[in-house]
Amino acid sequence: MIDRRTIELIMDTAKVEDVVGEFVALRKRGVNMIGLCPFHNEKTPSFTVSPAKNLWKCFGCGKGGKPVHFIMEHEQLSYPDALRWLAKRYHIEIKERELTDEEKREESMRESLFVINQYALQHFIDTLHNTEEGKAIGLNYFRHRGLRDETIRKFCLGYSLERRDSFAKTAVAAGYNPELIAKAGVCYSTDDGRLQDRFWGRVIFPVHTLSGKVVAFGGRVLQTNAKAAKYVNSPESEIYHKSDHLYGLYFAKQAIMQKNRCILVEGYLDVISMYQAGIENVVASSGTSLTTGQIRLIHRFTDNVTLLYDGDKAGIKASIRGIDMLLEEGMNINVVLLPEGEDPDSYAQSHSTEEVEEYIERNKVDFIRFKTNLLLDEVGEDPIRRAGLIGDVVKSIAVVPNEILRSEYIKKCSDMLSVSEQLLVKETAKIRMKRAEEQQKNNYAEQAQEAQNAETPQETPVIDEFQQNIIESYNNPLRHKEKAIIQFMLKNGSKLLQVPESKENNTPAFTETVISHLYYSFEGDGIEFSTPLYKKIFDEACEHATDINFDPENHFLSHPDPEISALAAELCGERYLLSKFFSEQKSDERNELAVMFEQTTRLAIAYKLSIVDEMLKTAMAKLKDPAVAADAAALQETMEEFKFLKETQQALNNVLRGYGFGHVALSI
Ligand code: CTP
Ligand code: MN
Repeated sequence: MIDRRTIELIMDTAKVEDVVGEFVALRKRGVNMIGLCPFHNEKTPSFTVSPAKNLWKCFGCGKGGKPVHFIMEHEQLSYPDALRWLAKRYHIEIKERELTDEEKREESMRESLFVINQYALQHFIDTLHNTEEGKAIGLNYFRHRGLRDETIRKFCLGYSLERRDSFAKTAVAAGYNPELIAKAGVCYSTDDGRLQDRFWGRVIFPVHTLSGKVVAFGGRVLQTNAKAAKYVNSPESEIYHKSDHLYGLYFAKQAIMQKNRCILVEGYLDVISMYQAGIENVVASSGTSLTTGQIRLIHRFTDNVTLLYDGDKAGIKASIRGIDMLLEEGMNINVVLLPEGEDPDSYAQSHSTEEVEEYIERNKVDFIRFKTNLLLDEVGEDPIRRAGLIGDVVKSIAVVPNEILRSEYIKKCSDMLSVSEQLLVKETAKIRMKRAEEQQKNNYAEQAQEAQNAETPQETPVIDEFQQNIIESYNNPLRHKEKAIIQFMLKNGSKLLQVPESKENNTPAFTETVISHLYYSFEGDGIEFSTPLYKKIFDEACEHATDINFDPENHFLSHPDPEISALAAELCGERYLLSKFFSEQKSDERNELAVMFEQTTRLAIAYKLSIVDEMLKTAMAKLKDPAVAADAAALQETMEEFKFLKETQQALNNVLRGYGFGHVALSI
């Protein structure tokens, strides 16, 4: 367990804009910053970062919290591990106790695989720079390909010796578990159970995650005439899903944000040579066609993509289909073809930064026009094939989400294809209509599936936060109200409110904190929260009832108890809970202290009404109980209790009405 002081230090040090900014491109908007949410698919940003409050929040999916909660979500880490992640980044020392054997065993598989990859990386780098074979073969090869030593170091390139079990032997001798080594993919087991190096006799290109951890390796053979495959890559594993990574993104992300453009190339060496030539916003799809996951990775950093291809057109045609996906994601794409016989690697090696940049600038063509030209070349004058081509181009235009952009493309293509704009507009509309219909059908299918799932009690149906709250409020009105109070308290707990003077009780107006008011309001009626977690939070808040410098949100967001911290983060992101209580609220010119009083009172009374409601149910059940009905004294007592509760209910509703809130439905 990490001690409270260290947690606070981490929470104070970790800046939300830095931590989030490492993974999401943020733009300034007023005092806040906005970007595309990494946790759900969106095309316009609803992900907001508040440097002043050190909080982030997505208004699209509702997630939010402190930097640590971002790391938990994004890196899929536990609370303590996310704290450790931040501590490491900010060089904050955490004094950890020795792990128990139990905990060691529990140490996650993922972590072990990363540890093995990291060990392998170091081994391959050492081999490249510090062994005779590594220097003579590996280093020599890289230098021959025009890479400078600083570049070789920067991209952590390495070499794997020709002996087929060199790494396997070293790793096992160093205490690494052979099974895990094979799982990580650096080695594999032969049929007779020996551990063999996957990359023997190859130069090594490590693949980094966005945060710089090594998830995989690519190994290239050295002899071009070899029968062996040119590249061997790490297989898919628990940590490596090829389709979620882009080679070079870790090194390129800053430059992509600065230039607001990502250059996409095909190979490892294309990335490295371009980077060395001073063009750093480059990533590679590693030879395969792009996946949606990869596109979203790029989209976090920019809307603009330039595809940089070899001069020969065969490769391009193969990848063109995948590119419609880029359009669909709302990206602006252009294509640059290099001169015959050149690829990005060779071109960058033989030209200066300015020359490469200028070439790209002068030769870039927007994707739709590029595709149209390419296909036009192919079909010639054959009218039937031409019609097919128009259909193909229209399909690409139809997926572009932005209407203005669509109509620009239509104009361009109508010129290029010599067809009327109206025809293209009509065809595009047809496709969009059909797609919308299909989507609708899918939605229905999904809903039907959900309904079916809902019938199986152990499965939680997929419903949104709003529905969830309504259902919860019906099933458990007390718990729901308590949650709302906690949320309100987190936001407003140490704010002041003014209790108006009461002629009835002969008390003058006075001012106190929201927490203090809630505390006395509940204590006076002997009310305690029924939900243990909420009670714990509320009680702890009450210890700070008179402290106006107390920051409840911060306090609970950085709480050592992960359950409390997670709940606080969840409540920071929720929108619906409180809005139901205050939707009628107009806080125009009214005094803030008075507004705070009314809101607090309204919440407290709504909660009390729920309690009364529950008690009425119990009383009603008693009245119907034959045993009670037979006992005159018990019946009398229960009837009085029932009457008293009814009156209390009435009185509470009157108070609410007094504020102009009208009747409050008991179950919400
Ligand atoms: N690739 C791969 N496996 C293969 C072939 C290719 O993973 N069997 C990926 C690699 O990421 C490679 C990219 O596809 O970098 C492009 O392949 P290719 O053009 O053949 O290689 P280059 O990167 O150009 O390599 P080199 O310049 O060294 O020939
Ligand atoms: Mn090449």
